[in-house]
Formats: sequence, C-alpha cells, structure tokens
Amino acid sequence: MRNPIIGGNWKMNTDKASAVALARGVLSAAAASPGPEVVVFPPFPYLLPVKEALSHPTIGGRTVAVGAQDVYHADRGAFTGEVSPLMLRDCGCTWALVGHSERRHILHEGDDNINLKLRSALHAGLSVILCVGESLHQRDVGETNHVNEKQTRLGLREVKAEEIDRVVIAYEPVWAIGTGKTATPDDAQDAHEHIRRVVADIFGRDAAERIRIQYGGSMNPSNAAELMAMPDIDGGLIGGASLKPEDFGKIIAAAAAAARVLG
Ligand code: 13P
Repeated sequence: MRNPIIGGNWKMNTDKASAVALARGVLSAAAASPGPEVVVFPPFPYLLPVKEALSHPTIGGRTVAVGAQDVYHADRGAFTGEVSPLMLRDCGCTWALVGHSERRHILHEGDDNINLKLRSALHAGLSVILCVGESLHQRDVGETNHVNEKQTRLGLREVKAEEIDRVVIAYEPVWAIGTGKTATPDDAQDAHEHIRRVVADIFGRDAAERIRIQYGGSMNPSNAAELMAMPDIDGGLIGGASLKPEDFGKIIAAAAAAARVLG
C-alpha cells in the first residue's frame, strides 16, 4: 500500500513571520491526522526559519518535511543566483520540486534541464517531486497522455533503479492550476494510470506499484476526498489551499481517510 503524500507549494507567497506561523499551523494540522507524509515548499529565503519552526517542538512526534521549489544541477561554482542540492541539504531540506509548470511556462525550462536537476538532486540524497501535466490546448486536441508520457520519460531519463523510490510524480494539468477548475476524478485517474504504466515500462511493475503519483491543480477541502479515493491518486500537491492551515489540514485528513479505505 502506498502512503499518500501531501505537499504544500507556497510558491512566491508569505513573508518571514507568516511563513513561520504557517509552518506551525501545518505541523498542528498534520499532527491531527497521522499517516500521510507531509512536506512544505517555502520560498528559498524562508527555508531555514521554516525548518527551525518545524524542528522543535514536534507535536506528538509528527514530522513535516521541508523542500525547495527548485534546484540547480551543479553542486557549487559560478552560477549566479542558483541554489545547489548540497546547499538545500545543508539547510535541512529533504525534498526538491522540479518541472513545475510555472517554471516550464514562465521561465521556459525544458525537459533536459529538468532531468539534470532531478538527477543531481537525487545524487545529493534529496527526494524529488517531478511535475508533469498538459495544457488546455493539449487536452483539447487529445494529447494528454502523450504529453504526460513524454515529460515523464524525459524527466526520469537515466535515473537509476535504486533511486526511483525517492521520486514522486505530481500530475498537475496546467489548466487546473490556480484556476479553481479541477480535473474530474475519472480524468485524473486515467492520467495517473497512464503515468504509472510509463513508469512500469521503464522501471518494472514493482517500482511502478510503489511510486506515488499525486494530483495537483485547485485541490481543496471540497474535492480532495473524491480525487484521493481513486486507486492511482496518492495524495496532492497543493498551491492556494496550502497557505491556509485549516484547509491544508482538511486535505491531510482526507488523505488519511482515503488511505484507510484503499488500504
Ligand atoms: P493550486 O492548488 O493553487 O491550483 O496550485 C497547484 C500547484 O501548482 C501546486 O504545485
């Protein structure tokens, strides 16, 4: 049985004080719903204070992990403005996001670059969430599975078999991000099932059964339960609703409930 994973992608929001307050709120919310793995992705400048806020005191032994919203593919050197996987480890991060659609579309990151980031983060010992997903146009012309397959294959190229268990895939249809529009549970399930088949083709059936594929795109307390009730949806990557501890807590609770039913 796959343990669901709930990620809070704070994007370019919060300030230092509100990031710390939000982290404390998430820790309390997570403590109320044991089970699902919980990780938050604050902006770079707040990684350290958020890590500190989550480190002590822990509530009921519950941990909430900290990850970075992006990472560079080299360990050190003349790369002005970039942040390396080793620096993230040094700050207590255990996760990195790569390939978020906002980076693909606004910052024009391509699959080769995303693959370099993913591999160097894994090499440094981080766990990685690889985001994939189709645009509205691609969906309309029937390319959803093709796009997700391509982004998954290119993103995971040359990943070693022993590293794949530290990868989570987030299926985030671009048209559902920040729009209030959500994929129907059936459509999301179809996409997740296809992505899992692609992983099986590359890494074998056992690895594909183990890998967690989470849904992202306007997930909120009212739609989380029905999405996570689908057999191939193993949690969520949450943007807007992750900034409100109460809503985020309800989504964690929905993941815990779904895991009990599916388990
Ligand atoms: P929203 O939940 O705001 O749609 O954002 C989803 C997302 O992009 C998470 O990475």
